[in-house]
Amino acid sequence: MAQYDVIVIGSGPGGYVAAIRCAQLGLKTACVEGRETLGGTCLNVGCIPSKALLHASHQLYEAEHNFAKMGLKGKSPSVDWKQMLAYKDDVIGQNTKGIEFLFKKNKIDWLKGWGSIPEAGKVKVGDAVHDAKNIIVASGSEASSLPGIEIDEKVVVTSTGALTLPKIPKKMIVIGAGVIGLELGSVYSRLGTEVEVIEFLDAITPGMDGEVQKTFQKLLQKQGLKFTLGAAVQGVDASKSKAKVTYKLRKDDSEHTMDADVVLVATGRRPYTDGLGLDALGIEMSQRGQIKTNAHWQTNVKGIYAIGDCIDGPMLAHKAEDEGMACAEVIAGKAGHVNYGVIPGVIYTHPEVANVGQTEEQLKEAGRNYKVGKFSFMGNGRAKANFAADGFVKILADKDTDRILGAHIIGPMAGDLIHEICVAMEFGASAEDLALTCHAHPTYSEAVREAALACGDGAIHM
Ligand code: NAI
Repeated sequence: MAQYDVIVIGSGPGGYVAAIRCAQLGLKTACVEGRETLGGTCLNVGCIPSKALLHASHQLYEAEHNFAKMGLKGKSPSVDWKQMLAYKDDVIGQNTKGIEFLFKKNKIDWLKGWGSIPEAGKVKVGDAVHDAKNIIVASGSEASSLPGIEIDEKVVVTSTGALTLPKIPKKMIVIGAGVIGLELGSVYSRLGTEVEVIEFLDAITPGMDGEVQKTFQKLLQKQGLKFTLGAAVQGVDASKSKAKVTYKLRKDDSEHTMDADVVLVATGRRPYTDGLGLDALGIEMSQRGQIKTNAHWQTNVKGIYAIGDCIDGPMLAHKAEDEGMACAEVIAGKAGHVNYGVIPGVIYTHPEVANVGQTEEQLKEAGRNYKVGKFSFMGNGRAKANFAADGFVKILADKDTDRILGAHIIGPMAGDLIHEICVAMEFGASAEDLALTCHAHPTYSEAVREAALACGDGAIHM
């Protein structure tokens, strides 16, 4: 058996990126993956396929709602669901094969099968035991359901089943108004499904800036999604083709039921570490089932590292990627670092929602002296031309130093716009720095500059 410098377990965005960076740094590297294709949840049943369906369904929405206004007349396209799923699968294929190509290019061995760690320095895949000076666990996460709910991935589905439904349901209940519930709920709503979202808390997207939450909910309601907030789901009774969801309203404890063809359970994800043998190795875990690591992604067992969804922090592909690169650098004797204060979050609905840094609620709670610069896309010419004027950019800056502390965008291309603020924050920029930077006209990004101007003497177009 080959002797490796590093074996990475898992080929999701954390694992495959770690493997590539290890190889680039001259380490002999292998990556263990049991799926038939590389890329983990994100590429196979997560980020990438959901974005394909979001894109396709958004085109339909535009055709139905905005084409005629621009003089593009004629019947709206009808949906060929089989073809839409084939398009999604093609996108998955292109991406997963892309990783396979990158592995070959970087001379990374793909060890096919499910890996376990019989002892430090060894990784078992099937009957073969491979030697590795360092092991990176990047085993990801899995959907976590609620007690009393049985997932069959047909009528009661997680995001995985929701990406391969045999037909577009007439009615869908989404449990959980988080990222998955709202992205996939949007897809089906645009395709004609009646979508009802049941959420435990009194607001959608927990943890997000309060003003954004309110605007976001209003816009989704305008698109047809319905919300029951402050409701705790008790159970789901499912037959072959129907499901009944029972929930209790928290305000008065009253019990209600709701029927649907499909129920999407989107109540969060939990770390996936089954079968790795971590218990026997004595690897320390948190109460939430996460692998405990130090600031260099080292576990308590020498030579074993962990990154991504299976450790602490937001379960985001890009957070895992950054940890993968930094962990590889640490193993190669360099100074790998992740700035956890500047990790953007994006929801790929329409409009998109994006954030980085602190929310206004967090700043208030911390007693920080801050100021707010806000600019509505109503004042942005490009957004108006593109029927995308809903939403705003909100920048939070320190009142004394003007340093940017956070930003929250709901609007067109928010997921891309947020990155200029991420870069600004990485460089410790002030709102004035952003405001003094020339932004091309007419672009959506002018709204970011205007929000930065609003932190000072005022926005121009508001
Ligand atoms: P989430 O944590 O974002 O949202 C789950 C929601 O379910 C919460 O609002 C919670 O209050 C609610 N909930 C929990 N128990 C409930 C009950 N009994 N009744 C009603 N509501 C209940 O989890 P989600 O959407 O499943 O996503 C999982 C992970 O995947 C997240 O960490 C998310 O960041 C990540 N993800 C990120 C994406 C992105 O970056 N665009 C896309 C998809 C997933």
